[in-house]
Formats: sequence, C-alpha cells, structure tokens
Amino acid sequence: MTGTTDKTLWRGARLATLDGAQPWGWVERGALITEGEHIAWVGPEAELPAGLAPAIEHDLGGAVLTPGLIDSHTHLVYGGRRAREFELRLQGASYEEIARAGGGIRSTVAATRAADAASLQAQAQRRLDTLIGEGVTTVEVKSGYGLDLESEARCLRAARALQGAQLRTSYLGAHALPPEFQGRQDEYVDAVCAWMPQLQREGLIDAVDAFCEGIGFTPAQTRRVFEAARTLGLPVKLHAEQLSDQGGTQLACEFGALSCDHLEYLSPEGVQALAASGTVATLLPGAYYFLRETKLPPVAALREAGVPIAISTDHNPGTSPTLSLLLMLNMACTLFRLTPEEALRGVTQHAARALGLADRGRLAPGLRADFCVWDVEHPNELSYYFGRNPLRQRVWGGKLS
Ligand code: NIG
Ligand code: FE
Repeated sequence: MTGTTDKTLWRGARLATLDGAQPWGWVERGALITEGEHIAWVGPEAELPAGLAPAIEHDLGGAVLTPGLIDSHTHLVYGGRRAREFELRLQGASYEEIARAGGGIRSTVAATRAADAASLQAQAQRRLDTLIGEGVTTVEVKSGYGLDLESEARCLRAARALQGAQLRTSYLGAHALPPEFQGRQDEYVDAVCAWMPQLQREGLIDAVDAFCEGIGFTPAQTRRVFEAARTLGLPVKLHAEQLSDQGGTQLACEFGALSCDHLEYLSPEGVQALAASGTVATLLPGAYYFLRETKLPPVAALREAGVPIAISTDHNPGTSPTLSLLLMLNMACTLFRLTPEEALRGVTQHAARALGLADRGRLAPGLRADFCVWDVEHPNELSYYFGRNPLRQRVWGGKLS
C-alpha cells in the first residue's frame, strides 16, 4: 500500500475485531487504517503495510478497540412519560391490566399525537445523545406511538432527522389499537397496511415490525401486515413471545424476518424456526427486568441451535426506559447468562445482522469505520461494570466524534 494523504493510522490498540476464528477476534498489538468513512486495513501492528504515509496518526497507548455499538431495537420517538404507571405497577397492577384499562402504549400515543414535530425530535435527540455517549454509532428507531398516518409519518421523519449516528427506521403501525378503532381491530390492520406504501414512498421505512401478543395483534393480523410488507419488498421484524407464546416467531420466520425480539416465551419450535431461517433472536433484558418478568428466554437452546443473539435497550417509556446499552450488556450476562463475548457480539455483529446491515458490526477491511476506544484492559469489562462508562473516544464514519 503506498502512502496517500487521506489515510488515518490508529496504532497501539488491543483489538476486539469480532472477526475471524479467534475468541473476540482478538489482536493483542493491533493497528487499523481508515480511509474516509471506511476501514482500509486491520491487523497486527508488526504487519502494517510498508510505505504507509498516513495523514494522521493516533497512538492509542494499549486501549481496547471494538466496533461501534449498535442499538437494534428502540422506540426513541415519543411524547410524555409513564412514571405514574411505574408506581401503579409497584403497587401490584400488571402491565397487561394497565394496557387493557387504556393506559400503557395508548397513553403514550395520546402524548405523542399532542406533541409537535420539533419537540418530538428534540426529545428524541437528547435520548440519542445519551446512547451516543456510550459508543453507539447505529440506532434503529420504531414508530408505533402515532397510530394514524400523519402521526406515524411525523415520528418516522423525526427519527430520520436525528443527528450523530446512522439511523434505521421500522414502521410499527401494528403496535396497539388506537382509540378511534376501538372494537374494529381488523379494520385498523387494513389501515396499517394501506398507509405502508405512502410511508415507503417518502423513504421512511427500512423494515416493518408488529406486536404479536394477547394485548397486541393476533398471528393472523400480523400475517396480513407481513404480506403487505412483502408486496412492497420490505423486510420484517417482530415483537414476539414477550408475554405469552403466540407462535409469532414461526410466522415471522416464514417471512424470513431479520429478527424476532423479546422471546421470553419462545417454544422449542420457535427456536428451530429461527435456526432454519437465519433470523436473529434479539433479547431485551431491560424490559425483562423492568416488568419483573421471571420467565427466561431459552438462551441455552438458542445457543445450541446456533441462532445469532442480539442485545438491545428496547428504549421505550413503558417497559424499558433505559438509555444505557452498556447496562444491557451487564444484564444480558447476569440475568440471561450470556458470556461477555456473546453480549458484545449482540450489540455489534449480530445487531448489524438484525438490521440487515452487512457493512458494520466487526472490524474488517471494507466495513464502515465505526469504532470505540475504551479505557479498559479487556473487552469483558464492558459487561462487568454496570453504571460506569469507560468510553474514551468514539469514531463514527472515520471521524472522532
Ligand atoms: O418493546 N412490547 C411492545 N412494545 C414495547 C413496549 C411499549 C410500551 O409499553 O410503550 C416493548 O416492550
Ligand atoms: Fe420494543
């Protein structure tokens, strides 16, 4: 490789590339060359190409470097808060009872509809900035608190206008039944499908999601949403088996879903379906913890079947108001018994796959130059600490930011 002026050399790094066969994709004395927004070279410092004349050189002094973190399941755009509902749950009310009484998601829908675009975006930007402060470089954001065409579009536009990370948006019209469709759930599903082409034409949808649950939508209704998505060539994802086993996972896998998310009540058939379709299992320890769920997702069975596991915040005002993806790493290990390496792959390599993104999630030539420099001795510390942020620097698209 001959020297050109737009290359940046990052040396003196201990690399968790998550690439290749080594545990962690580990390179003890590593270096990385970026060129523009991409990685041009990764490997042992001793093997750096001769004649390299980087424009800029950073000596990282032995710090650990990982791919940038990817939060592959969030509901960042919404109005209002649900702390009062939290108090009610502490007094014994269940999440389902609150939802059936018209609270829950529908109370956030009312607050979201009442909020203007600028305030929705400003609130979401503050939330995103907190995620970014822990090394997040790509974020998925769902709609699902507007539940009419105009409000869903407003939320998706707000999501796509967020600054400082790569944004992917999922259309979650089938999240809850809005009050104006009370008693007319199938008609609402028709409306969700009918709005889809317009939202797609505006460039607002990367994937289509639904909430398949006793308090959400039936498998038959979910199927209709997925068929509409398929007609438009849009990939699907699903909130599946969170509170009960609906067989939503098998349905989603029929449609080659990118991911099925939550999965506490996943059956052995569901595990097999994920394995057969190559769908990512996204686990959400924040919602598990906050709802005081006791049924664990079948992690050992997923692992044994070779299903890729992603971890995400599921940031939302009702079941997971966390803005710390690092805390989710710790919880994925303590609550779900993932290994720290599995947890890190869950917020990088497998999170990228849950979004259908092949150009990130590992440190390898040709991929996006999104990475984190951490003040730790070993990447297992990212799962070990909780409530501590060891991020030293974030590099997004080749730039320190
Ligand atoms: O991912 N499960 C459905 N959706 C959200 C919760 C939404 C809410 O309560 O506002 C979730 O947990
Ligand atoms: Fe969610």
